[in-house]
Amino acid sequence: MDHILVTGGAGFIGSNFVHHVVANTDLRVTVLDKLTYAASRESLDGLPADRVSLVVGDIVDAPLMERLAGEHDAIVHFAAESHNDNSLHDPSPFVQTNVVGTFSVLEAVRKAGIRLHHISTDEVYGDLELDDPERFSERTPYNPSSPYSSTKAGSDLLVRAWVRSFGVQATISNCSNNYGPWQHIEKFIPRQITNVIDGGRPKLYGAGQNVRDWIHADDHSSAVLAVLREGAIGETYLIGADGERNNLEVVQQILRHFGRPADDFDHVTDRPGHDLRYAIDSTKLRTELGWSPRFTDFEQGLADTIEWYRAHEDWWRPHKQAVESAYAAKGQ
Ligand code: NAD
Ligand code: TYD
Repeated sequence: MDHILVTGGAGFIGSNFVHHVVANTDLRVTVLDKLTYAASRESLDGLPADRVSLVVGDIVDAPLMERLAGEHDAIVHFAAESHNDNSLHDPSPFVQTNVVGTFSVLEAVRKAGIRLHHISTDEVYGDLELDDPERFSERTPYNPSSPYSSTKAGSDLLVRAWVRSFGVQATISNCSNNYGPWQHIEKFIPRQITNVIDGGRPKLYGAGQNVRDWIHADDHSSAVLAVLREGAIGETYLIGADGERNNLEVVQQILRHFGRPADDFDHVTDRPGHDLRYAIDSTKLRTELGWSPRFTDFEQGLADTIEWYRAHEDWWRPHKQAVESAYAAKGQ
């Protein structure tokens, strides 16, 4: 493997992965990205031009996908519409990009006979009770709740069918919630950090008891690289770093970092159908591929992320007002 195509490589996790690949391998990378509202070209700044190039285009565009698949050894497929709240407002781009787009990627891979790694989410499994001793594993049945998670589940099932029916050389990974630099400020952690930097208050949906299993985006990247290199074709690997926290705890940690009182936040309208808890058992990835996370101290990782948003105000500031107005219109 020498030259890989990374779809969605100008987004939060995709760009992190491209930096990780450049720093840790000799691979050359082409990023294919539609540059939606969620993308940022700046996230790819500073990468060597002889190893990384950007193609602006849509994964739904079948001739483009086929041409690019023919020019690469593998595709790592991150491109997606990724925000649950947006999917409740307008599911249409989620069906287009996540389902039809993945179909287009699969057909291109099938015709070119190249390797595919498909990036997915733990949200395909639905949610767990807060006191459930179980965590999600590769054997958990799919039970998605939202338009976002159901379109990701649909994309995973397409990949499985293309492996079984057409012999496509694909692997899948389902990761828990990511945090780190370059995450869009519509998402939970960057929204609260930037609210506090602005002198405002964090906004907790409902009681704030919902649990997410946080992993640093760089650990997600190292896991994806491990699966791309050593994963068994047709297999699914769950990626997680034992980072369960409820939303209230995360908000209070952010407030503590800024020296603000622990109750200096607002409860706002809950998300319809809000999943209670996600939790990942990543034993398969750890034992079969020898992977382990580097960012095991969530407090430190969050502190670094807060400092990153403080240092990159120029990047997020132009979008802040529009994001907050859209939330305010929904009582959030
Ligand atoms: P993101 O929204 O930050 O980035 C998505 C990228 O895909 C953007 O650059 C966007 O321009 C691009 N894109 C969207 N539609 C496209 C299209 N039709 N053609 C080409 N490019 C298109 O998302 P993210 O948080 O970086 O998530 C990346 C992947 O990881 C997604 O598949 C998501 O489901 C998965 N995932 C995310 C998380 C998380 O916590 N954010 C956790 C697990 C899995
Ligand atoms: P989010 O970052 O949207 O990720 P996901 O929905 O994929 O888990 O939200 C993470 C958690 O934070 C989720 O339980 C919803 C909650 N949340 C808030 O409490 N307030 C907010 O302003 C946002 C955006 C999310």
